[in-house]
Amino acid sequence: MSIPTARLTNTDAGIIKQLLPRIAAPWVLLLLFTTPSLAETQTPPASAIATAHPIATAAGHETLAAGGNAFDAAVAVSATLAVVEPMGSGLGGGGFWLLHRASDGFETMVDGRERAPLAATRNMYLDEKGEVVTGLSMDGPLAAAIPGQPAALVHIAERYGRLPLKKSLAPAIRAALNGFQVTEHYRDQARFRLEAMRRNPETAHLFLHNNDVPPVGHTIKQPALAATLKAIAKDGRDGFYRGAVAKKLLASVTKAGGIWSQRDFDSYQVVERTPIHGEYKGTRITSAAPPSSGGIALITMLNILSGYELEEMNELDRTHTIVEAMRRAYRDRAEYLGDPDFVQIPMAQLTHPDYASELRETIRFDRATPSQELKGNTLEQGGVDTTHFSILDEEGNRVAATLSINYPFGAAFVAPGTGVLLNDEMDDFSAKPGTPNAYGLVGAEANAIAPGKRPLSSMSPTFLESRDRTAILGTPGGSRIITMVLLGTLEFAAGNEPQAWASRPRFHHQFLPDLIQLEPNAISDATQQQLSERGHTLKTLKNNYGNMQALLWNRGTNRVTAASDPRGGGEALIKQHQPSK
Ligand code: GLY
Repeated sequence: MSIPTARLTNTDAGIIKQLLPRIAAPWVLLLLFTTPSLAETQTPPASAIATAHPIATAAGHETLAAGGNAFDAAVAVSATLAVVEPMGSGLGGGGFWLLHRASDGFETMVDGRERAPLAATRNMYLDEKGEVVTGLSMDGPLAAAIPGQPAALVHIAERYGRLPLKKSLAPAIRAALNGFQVTEHYRDQARFRLEAMRRNPETAHLFLHNNDVPPVGHTIKQPALAATLKAIAKDGRDGFYRGAVAKKLLASVTKAGGIWSQRDFDSYQVVERTPIHGEYKGTRITSAAPPSSGGIALITMLNILSGYELEEMNELDRTHTIVEAMRRAYRDRAEYLGDPDFVQIPMAQLTHPDYASELRETIRFDRATPSQELKGNTLEQGGVDTTHFSILDEEGNRVAATLSINYPFGAAFVAPGTGVLLNDEMDDFSAKPGTPNAYGLVGAEANAIAPGKRPLSSMSPTFLESRDRTAILGTPGGSRIITMVLLGTLEFAAGNEPQAWASRPRFHHQFLPDLIQLEPNAISDATQQQLSERGHTLKTLKNNYGNMQALLWNRGTNRVTAASDPRGGGEALIKQHQPSK
């Protein structure tokens, strides 16, 4: 494998080159793929679903009760979230569905990430002076990549499900016709995107009330979206990418200055990718592969942290160590990661324990490492909304799925007559690669815009397995997703329950800006003071962040537990197995 060393520091390039001959060593493969012994024949005593909305959780359980498996339930939940949580995900967006099939242990990541239109160009968001035009990659149809979710739902249903789409999409169609009620969270997100939403009459008509943020309890019905879902139920992917729906999408996008074409729709392909695996102190981690950066960054951080006894450290040293691991993994994220169909990613090296050892040696305990000393790139922030759900069925099939339309309400553009809210996932690309940014650093070449390319993501649907416990987790939250999953993984490894993973206070470091971002009360005042003395800069956020949906099957006690993040309005629901008479 050729390694993209063009912008590596000498030390980085040295480490990675030294590692190459060692990668093939058989003991390494053994170490990487040592799986905790699993009771393959054991099945869970209950099914469990955790999603960001009670209607979506109910849709999943309804689908299981109708004879569907976890994969059918994933189709039902994804489609229902598209209806009842329009600010987070939708048919106009995409996502990653991590699947585990109990019958043979097969695991895959269904990559339904959006793709740049074929007419996209590297500099499409720059003005004639080469400066990024604010808003162009966020609002309106030019910001929208080609949706992947409809194709992914059809793919999952046909390849892994048992039920026809007519059945698994029924709860979503019903929800679109009956409507859902506006919550405080909806209002916050609508307020955040109000100006953009007002600019598109169809969006304002559907998702605002009198052109303003709707009151709590206001009912939002989406008959056009119900019709689009029915078209998919009837005609599969052609129901979206061909025929009447496609015609309406293409006409309105073109009219409003977008660059989508029928060729984009015809050539869109779901890709199945091998998930990223790693080990942390007896826990096997399975997480998202590129074009998500989640799995690789998560494994890099855990590999670094596996060299320490975090449990035995005081709050100061533990926080410092975790932050330094985050800093290093996010530096690499921005440097190397992008769409694996377009760029070569040194995956084996970045997730290699020896590489983590080298990074560990650069961590000092007496002071923070300024990010400028490590050299590297800035990180595109990534959308702040998105959604995640977790499913376990009674056969032991699992789904962890993180879906997105990027910013809340995506591009804030609905194609009239379709009910489809377009994503603004083009903003996850590096709009201006190769040009020094405000920090004097070069932007991420690996994530430059190219026709048909998938933008880099942080979405990190994840499975964790120890000798007697299996977990399914993930969260929305843009670039903070990966560190939230990291903190959740550390909670799992410490033997704690999903409630603790989902509710624990959070902190985050992403290399640049060189700050520890923390939720109010995430770190004690005394430790904050001591971290500052070590050279860390801390920024307490005004609001909490994330919305983790987490499940745990304890095979030792044969008990299933679940949690929906207390920060959100979701629901985790466990249904005990009813033995057939
Ligand atoms: N748009 C959020 C992400 O993919 O990371």
